[in-house]
Amino acid sequence: MISVQVKAGKGYRVLIGAGLLKELPARLSEVTGSKHLMLVSDDSVWGLYGEAVRAALTEAGYRTETYVFAHGEASKNLSVYGALLEKMCDAHLTREDPVLALGGGVVGDLAGFAAATYQRGVPLVQLPTTLLAAVDSSVGGKTAVDLPNGKNQVGAFYQPSLVVCDTDTFATLPETEYQNGCAEIIKYGMLSGSEELFRMLEAEPVRNRYEEIVGRCVSIKRDFVEEDEFDRGLRMLLNLGHTVGHGVEACSGYAIPHGQAVAIGMAAIARGTARKGLFDSASAEELVNLIKAYGLPTELPFSKEEIAEKAQSDKKNTTDAMRIIIPERIGTCRIEKIAPAEFTEWF
Ligand code: NAD
Ligand code: GLY
Repeated sequence: MISVQVKAGKGYRVLIGAGLLKELPARLSEVTGSKHLMLVSDDSVWGLYGEAVRAALTEAGYRTETYVFAHGEASKNLSVYGALLEKMCDAHLTREDPVLALGGGVVGDLAGFAAATYQRGVPLVQLPTTLLAAVDSSVGGKTAVDLPNGKNQVGAFYQPSLVVCDTDTFATLPETEYQNGCAEIIKYGMLSGSEELFRMLEAEPVRNRYEEIVGRCVSIKRDFVEEDEFDRGLRMLLNLGHTVGHGVEACSGYAIPHGQAVAIGMAAIARGTARKGLFDSASAEELVNLIKAYGLPTELPFSKEEIAEKAQSDKKNTTDAMRIIIPERIGTCRIEKIAPAEFTEWF
């Protein structure tokens, strides 16, 4: 097992390893004295792991309330969030009683926002079951739900009290979800400050070394979060490939999954930055080849103008300046402030 300590919020541990869900009751007792909790999941994850987790908690003496909603991004909305809060209220959960989020980023973001807001904040435990949630959404405290006109438009920065990532759960991930997680992992390979992770990803598939790779990614994210918890500066580097990616996702009406869109965005920005002579062309090709090796797309599926229009409505951009993340070399990126009118020159 790998343990990564994050000094944000009250401070918490991210535990990563095979079979960790079996140890959940013992781990939970290290962060809360409460014996009453809310276990949140989606129907797919519940069908695979929910009953076993509930049984282990009940066996250990926890009064376990459950809330299971339909899987998919469409559930990450105010009405599912509101129904969860009402269920917590009906169950008389108090400010000491934790919310446990068992699932991918949709469950983690929604349950996390409920934990952040129910009675002004109750303890949150993230139990990520997708690769993407393990390396990204379960760590760092971004919680949110979507509005009809935009993703993650309502939310809060709210750090968990504990993250338990059981890498055995990745065995049941559909191939596309594995690939979506790998896109974010390749992103970390470009942000770690050295070539080491990138070369590891070239040498062997992620699925051969889940514990080590997830541990490395979480440690990289930890460093950005500790430096810039509220996403005003350096944490923005985690958005490599995301500005173009958000444009691609939006142009597709969210039919193209986030990981694939980020992959396209990373490839596009690598090519654009190489064209400008700011990123070595051979390195750009290495990045594009790595993305392809994980079965991810690299070509723009819409015109640059269409993508730019959608990307520029992103909430992170002001009207007179945009911040994009550009690669400098393998393992190192920087934030570039550009005029919105120049954006299409960069990808
Ligand atoms: P997801 O939660 O929708 O999970 C993808 C699919 O995989 C779902 O159908 C789910 O039921 C299924 N699934 C989950 N675990 C499984 C398992 N072990 N075996 C089989 N199937 C499983 O999507 P995601 O990619 O995990 O997360 C995407 C969400 O995360 C988006 O809403 C995005 O906005 C959010 N996000 C948040 C952050 C953050 O920092 N908070 C960062 C990145 C993404
Ligand atoms: N997913 C990017 C961040 O947490 O900042």
